[in-house]
Amino acid sequence: MPVPPAPSARSDAVFAPGLMQGKVLFVSGGGSGIGLGICLAFARLGARVAICGRTEAKLQEASEAIRRAGAPEAMFVRADVRDPEAMKAAADAVGQRWGKIDVFVSNAAGNFMSLAEDMTPKAFATVLDIDLRGTFHGAQAALPWLRRASADGSGAIMISTSATLQYKAMPFQGHAAAAKAGIDSLTKTLAAEWSHDGIRVVSIAPGPIENTEGGPTGRVFGALAGRQDVRRVCPLGRYGTTDDIANTAVFLASAGGNYITGTNVVVDGLNWQASGAA
Ligand code: HXC
Repeated sequence: MPVPPAPSARSDAVFAPGLMQGKVLFVSGGGSGIGLGICLAFARLGARVAICGRTEAKLQEASEAIRRAGAPEAMFVRADVRDPEAMKAAADAVGQRWGKIDVFVSNAAGNFMSLAEDMTPKAFATVLDIDLRGTFHGAQAALPWLRRASADGSGAIMISTSATLQYKAMPFQGHAAAAKAGIDSLTKTLAAEWSHDGIRVVSIAPGPIENTEGGPTGRVFGALAGRQDVRRVCPLGRYGTTDDIANTAVFLASAGGNYITGTNVVVDGLNWQASGAA
């Protein structure tokens, strides 16, 4: 009989109360899915939380949930990561309100399944624009405020949402796999360039995360994952949750992660190595 999988836990059951008090978190694509999960985890630990995204109603609802989770303050700015000026305005609005950004999470992503031969040039460019160029725009926008946060010696961090698609030959994902490989590369470059400012840069590669667009029942991979036994996909015996990813982000942003930079942290229950799938 297989041992039942250990469940995921909420951040307030794992970390010291108030761990993120005094910290400012800014998340692109924070209105839903993994981005919102990260916001809620930091909110429960006392951080002030700002989010940006494209859809005002979604951002409004998410900010209310973030406040209910315990954030002393929450704000949102409507901004598309593809627009560098909009990202600069969003990061500046956060910085001007709270004086700094301790943790910037570049999380906004776009995806759909398509063979490369069927993808129009615009379709390929759209995913590159959101995932890779959007990460670059967010990084440039957040940098002055990350520097402000790290100036007192307590450090600051940028965390990007990567993936595991790019580690293997992954059909239907030519755009996203290329973009996420680019994010992994950019993570290393930025980590080197920003290390002298005390700013760490890492990426997290989630496996199949329940209740997200890229998850086992989501729009992008739902049709594939639905046909597979969870233990074949994830040897740990369950799909991931947004809490699994958020707890990793909290650890990386905490003093516990102070010697980790320029790397990619895989949080996937052994999925990609065992199944070779996304
Ligand atoms: C083929 C498609 C397509 C599809 C769009 N396109 N959907 N091509 N198959 N299913 C093409 C369009 O035809 C168009 O090209 C171009 O892409 C741009 O499409 P738009 O709809 O104009 O773009 P936009 O409104 O900006 O929407 C971007 C999007 C959309 C990526 C297409 O799905 C989106 O905004 N998604 C955001 C949320 C999201 O996808 N999250 C998924 C995260 S999951 P033409 O030439 O026809 O004009 C994730 C998983 C990572 O990242 C891995 C986890 C394991």
